Amino acid sequence: MKAKMTVNKCFEIDAVDPRIYGSFLEQMGRAVYTGIFEPGHKTADTKGFRGDVRDLVKELKTTIVRYPGGNYVSGYNWEDGIGPVAERPARLDLAWKSVETHEVGLHEFMYWANEVGIEVCMAINLGTKGVDDARNIVEYCNHPGGTYWSDLRRKNGAEKPFKIKTWCLGNEMDGPWQIGAKTAEEYGRIAAEAAKVMKLVDPDIELVACGSSARWMPTFGAWEATVLEHVYEHVDYISLHSYYGNQKNDVPGYLAKSIDMDRFIGSVSAICDYIKAKTRSEKTLNLSYDEWNVWYHSNEQDSKNEPWQKAPPILEDIYNFEDALLFGCLLITLLKNCNRIKIACLAQLVNVIAPIMTEKGGAAWQQTTYFPFMQAASHGHGVVLRHNIDVSAYDCEEFKDVPYVEAVAIFNREENEIVVFAVNRSMDEHADFDMELQGFDPKNIIEFTEICDYDVKQVNSSAAIPVSPKTSQAASVAGGNISATLKPLSWNMLRIGLN
Ligand code: AHR
Repeated sequence: MKAKMTVNKCFEIDAVDPRIYGSFLEQMGRAVYTGIFEPGHKTADTKGFRGDVRDLVKELKTTIVRYPGGNYVSGYNWEDGIGPVAERPARLDLAWKSVETHEVGLHEFMYWANEVGIEVCMAINLGTKGVDDARNIVEYCNHPGGTYWSDLRRKNGAEKPFKIKTWCLGNEMDGPWQIGAKTAEEYGRIAAEAAKVMKLVDPDIELVACGSSARWMPTFGAWEATVLEHVYEHVDYISLHSYYGNQKNDVPGYLAKSIDMDRFIGSVSAICDYIKAKTRSEKTLNLSYDEWNVWYHSNEQDSKNEPWQKAPPILEDIYNFEDALLFGCLLITLLKNCNRIKIACLAQLVNVIAPIMTEKGGAAWQQTTYFPFMQAASHGHGVVLRHNIDVSAYDCEEFKDVPYVEAVAIFNREENEIVVFAVNRSMDEHADFDMELQGFDPKNIIEFTEICDYDVKQVNSSAAIPVSPKTSQAASVAGGNISATLKPLSWNMLRIGLN
């Protein structure tokens, strides 16, 4: 099969906001306890945080981490996680039917984020809490001092404010499973009032309002429109969440699911623009895709879990090769929409539907999905170029005209290179990939790596990491154009040096 991609230096989509490589760490399952935090582990630092996990997180190059939930945040009292650890209460976490001891709370998490060099995106509780709590937590985290909450932070050991810039106004408030779920009217009102007081405390913060918790929610669309009527002028982003799975064991159908993500982004952008037009606003609202991933492998196991354990092993999906391919298509889709998607959070980061897994007392290791993310977050910076791709397409149960090759090209001015990420969705045909770089003068192939040639069900484990990128020689510069071979079922990264 032939695949011809054309880009032109004059035609850009937008610059990639580094926060598109965000992630998410919820205070649930083994994300925190025996994930990032395990006092006594042989790699633990003096505060009990695992050094092996820290190194893998750093290598992943994630930029921002959403915390502490997720469903968990809607029943969370953040004050339970401050002050002397021995005095902190253990509480029932109703969202995940677990027991939370608060051994790790706000200060410990901020310490960890600082150690790994990631910005924090803090979510507030708009389930069981409200406007007063919203202003208090911003004052505690961001006000320099001289007030009740800011001085309490200083007393608890943080002289300087945390300066958290990005805040989520609750989580999935449309979902019947959410603690304190709300109608769009109820949520729109409380979110607008919470946003007002939070920005009064710190005008430099940015706020994310909750969109629908999934595109399949019956209230999707109407929820966004109603909520935005209330919050449009008070917030900076609206959220999108999606999880995908290959429940039908249909590989072509599964790999096409990134089209759902693309349509979701298009629809939410259109709703934002409708409210912009209706209210004659000057402002264009951007999007925060603050939960996205594959999630389905652990569902059956989790339904058998005993309730009220501390740090139970839940949502521990083990990802295979086909998951990494869909994951790659999802990453490409986010990048192609970088004019609207400014924040995106891979949900989640450690142990819970995560690219990084740990064994209690043992090793930390990379899942198959770790590698496409790491490559994109390491090299996918600069300006996404508009492109045309000529390639054949297929139909599957859910979608028509699915292109066999999904790709994106990013021009990195600082490095003077173009980086292409591409997935070949074909099960049996390689793609002769030709790229015309109008307005550029390509010099060399800096690097061409591929993840391919595995059984679709191949997984990684603590014992072996078979699914990972391998260098290929099958790419060259000829007559100002690029050609490369994209193997059947492959994730590819091509870095092109420019003159
Ligand atoms: O990431 C797991 C859960 O998925 C989050 O807690 C929730 O927001 C979503 O439904």
